[in-house]
Amino acid sequence: MAAACLVLRRSLRAGQLLGSKPAWPQPPQANMSFATLSRGRRLALSTLGVVIAGGAGLALALHRSVKASDLELHPPHYPWSHSGFLSSLDHASVRRGYQVYKQVCAACHSMDYLAFRNLVGVSHTEAEAKALAEEFEILDGPDDNGEMFTRPGKLSDRFPKPYPNPEAARASNNGALPPDLSYIANARHGGEDYIFSLLTGYCDPPAGVTMREGLYFNPYFLGQAIAMAPPIYDEVLEYDDGTPATMSQVAKDVCTFLRWASEPEHDDRKRMGLKIVLMTTFLTAVIFYMKKHRWSVLKSRKIAYKPPQ
Ligand code: HEC
Repeated sequence: MAAACLVLRRSLRAGQLLGSKPAWPQPPQANMSFATLSRGRRLALSTLGVVIAGGAGLALALHRSVKASDLELHPPHYPWSHSGFLSSLDHASVRRGYQVYKQVCAACHSMDYLAFRNLVGVSHTEAEAKALAEEFEILDGPDDNGEMFTRPGKLSDRFPKPYPNPEAARASNNGALPPDLSYIANARHGGEDYIFSLLTGYCDPPAGVTMREGLYFNPYFLGQAIAMAPPIYDEVLEYDDGTPATMSQVAKDVCTFLRWASEPEHDDRKRMGLKIVLMTTFLTAVIFYMKKHRWSVLKSRKIAYKPPQ
């Protein structure tokens, strides 16, 4: 009975009555079946299939095995206090990080894109930032006689460079160029996790590996041989706010500072994100209510159509 119903339904759906022949002639169909091929062709096709599949597998295996990034140690994820959806940067840490940059890293690394005024309201007050700027002698000019002169720094001055040009930087660092640190947290895979691991990850090379003069073993650096001598260690500086300057504390603070430098809009971005989520939730609820209200006149109306005779 059920089978009969099914047949009836199918033939009705196909637009034909039970038992009648299809009204249109069937289009000719090509016979492409594997079984109809000659034996030689079947063999050739099977061999080709095996060769292609094997080649693809081999290519995949080789491609995986020669990835250069497998040869260096990937940094772990550290629980940064600013990594949450709504967490801001730790500004006390940014302030200490600036002190680390100024007293340690600035001997070799420039930060061309930061000016002293950028620190105002972030890690220093305006008076403090002015005092910091005035510690530096900045080359300015030319004056009315065409002479260059030096003057104390102003808030609008960029951070002074350690070397006048890249050639001088290379000459003082065994031929290696210390990169500009303004955007380094965005410029390296892993961001602050990588920089923290790099700064704290120096160790002795494994047995049998000898380092060239002026290179240091660091498993996190691409190629493991870095031209930067270990820049930080316990008590490398004394913090103004009295925080104990352990190696990991110094690395953490300078990384937070470098994250802020790469992304000065960090806190505003998260605050704006929160506002947008709150506003869209509210607006969605209002729009949903308005839509119901507007259409309720039609939705509650009963519409009946006269069936065709
Ligand atoms: C004595 C000079 C010197 C000091 C001080 C120094 N660096 Fe470097 N740094 C270098 C040189 C040279 C390189 C380039 C290394 C290379 O390419 O082998 C480098 C490279 C780097 C890199 C890039 C690594 C990469 O992946 O390319 C980072 C990040 C870095 N330094 C951070 C710091 C921080 C943070 C400090 C301060 C705590 C610091 N450096 C202090 C000389 C220095």
